[in-house]
Amino acid sequence: MATRPRCKTGIKVLDDELDGGIPLGNTVLVSGASGVGKTTLCMEMLANGARMDEKGVFFTATETVSKIKQYQGTYDFFDEKLLKAGQISVIDLWNISDRLGLHPERYNLEEANILFEVIRDITKELGAKRLVVDSITSLCFRLQTREMIRDFIFKLGSSLTALDCTTFLTSEVPPMVYQFSQYDIEEFIADGIIFLSDVERKGNLLRTLQVVKMRGTSHSRTKFALNMSSRNGVELEPMLKSNF
Ligand SMILES: Nc1ncnc2c1ncn2[C@@H]1O[C@H](COP(=O)(O)OP(=O)(O)OP(=O)(O)O)[C@@H](O)[C@H]1O
Ligand SMILES: [Mg+2]
Repeated sequence: MATRPRCKTGIKVLDDELDGGIPLGNTVLVSGASGVGKTTLCMEMLANGARMDEKGVFFTATETVSKIKQYQGTYDFFDEKLLKAGQISVIDLWNISDRLGLHPERYNLEEANILFEVIRDITKELGAKRLVVDSITSLCFRLQTREMIRDFIFKLGSSLTALDCTTFLTSEVPPMVYQFSQYDIEEFIADGIIFLSDVERKGNLLRTLQVVKMRGTSHSRTKFALNMSSRNGVELEPMLKSNF
């Protein structure tokens, strides 16, 4: 049976789990509570892609561009040269929104469409093959209805699929709850869900990662222990064997 080409995350355990990577062009929700590593995981997947000559674009809607660069710069995978070479672009989503003169709190249908078109056009112009919106939750907050949220994510996902661009949307959820999105819509439109969580072990709050859904892929739902370090970035080990 023919399988879709893959977007290799460059995180070996995750690629093995996903039969080589994320099906090219899928929209993946990277869900988890505050501090579980959503931004870091997404940036590492962009950096790994950039090293494989796949350009990435990171739209930030939660931290300033300078903070993203400063904090992600503490990891070895994040090389300033990738930014200078244009392999990774970090863009402030609210800056774009302001420049377009969109309403700062709530978008109407027309404004939502303008923002969608700008994101799509920037991705196309850059020739990006990986895109991150960090976070889709804060963007959804500006969309007024469930229908607008559904429409926005669906249109974004399908137009980026047409560009062979794989999309990662970070999703903020409360801690220690098995929940993937804030509005209960994002997870159904996304092709995949990578769920990051915390588990308390020996007085330590251990980070975990689980692939909950990945359309077009046979995968387990194994819970992996996740460790982050400056030198190795995100590392995964099966929970039972983990020494993290
Ligand atoms: N250089 C580093 N090495 C290892 N761990 C780090 C390093 N820098 C930050 N961290 C850890 O990463 C955490 C933040 O991770 P990250 O920003 O990716 O989480 P997040 O899920 O995006 O959080 P939020 O929901 O607040 O955006 C910090 O709380 C810290 O524990
Ligand atoms: Mg974050």
